[in-house]
Amino acid sequence: MTVRDRHGLELTGSSEVAGSLYRDAVKAYHCYAGEPFPMLRTALADSPGFVMAHVLIAYMTLVGSEPRVRSLGTTAVAATAGLTVTPREAGHVSAINAIMVGEFQNAARILEDVAIAHPLDVLALQAGQQMDFLTGDARMLRDRISRALPAWSEGMPDFHAILGLHAFGLEETGQYGRAEAAGRRAVELEPRNGWAQHAVAHVLEMQERRVEGVAWMTGNATDWTRESFFAIHNWWHLALFHLGLDDIDAVLELYDGPIYGERSTMAFDMVDAAALLWRLKLRGMDVGDRWNTLADNYSGQPCGQYAFDDVHAALALVGAGRDAQAQTLLDAMAAAAEAPGENGLITREVGLPLANGIVLFGRGDFTAATDLLRNVRNRAARFGGSHAQRDVIDLTLIASAARSGDTSLERALVAERFAAIPQMPG
Ligand SMILES: [Fe+2]
Repeated sequence: MTVRDRHGLELTGSSEVAGSLYRDAVKAYHCYAGEPFPMLRTALADSPGFVMAHVLIAYMTLVGSEPRVRSLGTTAVAATAGLTVTPREAGHVSAINAIMVGEFQNAARILEDVAIAHPLDVLALQAGQQMDFLTGDARMLRDRISRALPAWSEGMPDFHAILGLHAFGLEETGQYGRAEAAGRRAVELEPRNGWAQHAVAHVLEMQERRVEGVAWMTGNATDWTRESFFAIHNWWHLALFHLGLDDIDAVLELYDGPIYGERSTMAFDMVDAAALLWRLKLRGMDVGDRWNTLADNYSGQPCGQYAFDDVHAALALVGAGRDAQAQTLLDAMAAAAEAPGENGLITREVGLPLANGIVLFGRGDFTAATDLLRNVRNRAARFGGSHAQRDVIDLTLIASAARSGDTSLERALVAERFAAIPQMPG
């Protein structure tokens, strides 16, 4: 008998038992919480040819991971070779092969086609949106999900996941009122949905509703932190709210606690740590040895693979005052910029000029830093991340203009920033 997922899609190579474990693992993946790996390992011990179990492991391990975790993904990709699959599953297998070699745009397009053919394939929608995030494709963050909405309705399993995905896409395209409503409904349906929790946090951040932001994040923290592998980023958002309220003690308490107390070497976690310390640096704060701890962890990481991570490594190295290491990073990025493929292009056009600007800022050459940052910031979305994450570029540019003595430019940038803030919900 054919084993299927929660929406009737075939799961080739799966036994009934393995299929049940997989369905639970997908539920965990939707929330970025729980223990999907042990479930998938048990499923694969039972059904080694279960292609979608391998695929899900690949989606969870190939991006933003340390090399040891990433190797789980490459092993999973290899395990899918030669398996008998349906056309839908073949799309997923193509996508993980593209992700493995850093072709995120290609993976995004493949997953578009999978979800167009199968709008109930919520895994294709979620993994696809992750690709849109990595490539900074704001419109597709929203529209990939919008396309599937006619197939979905309240009461269906996983509807909270669809709402959470749509909420984030709506937020990144500036539709804050609808984003907030969708995100809040998703959390009502599934309080552990950390992505929906996060989408609402973004709305509140963009609208500078910081007191509400603190209330939103602290009101149900036991839900979005429990067994969550996305909690650090959500704690980062809470820290941003506190920073906006000038509550620096709370920011540092979060940094030393849930954000970087465990000193993660996962790229996605280190990005948050670097971006938070940098914001404090721009305010002229001395954060003590925190920079050195973070820079030490960046020193052991590969670079030249994903420009977004490299730029955050530059923040950490400059923050720690390690100019020679920062120069080595720039050299590695310059080499990466010459390589063919997606990261080479993005490093050339976005990552390298940004990192150069940050290093010049660290060296006190504020005129040159300002010039570089001005040139690149309006195309910086191409290297991925959210508006809130890329805001560190604008903040650095304003600080650089101020320190270069260009008060006219500083005044213009501050006026531009103030005018861009949507003051009212909606
Ligand atoms: Fe975020």
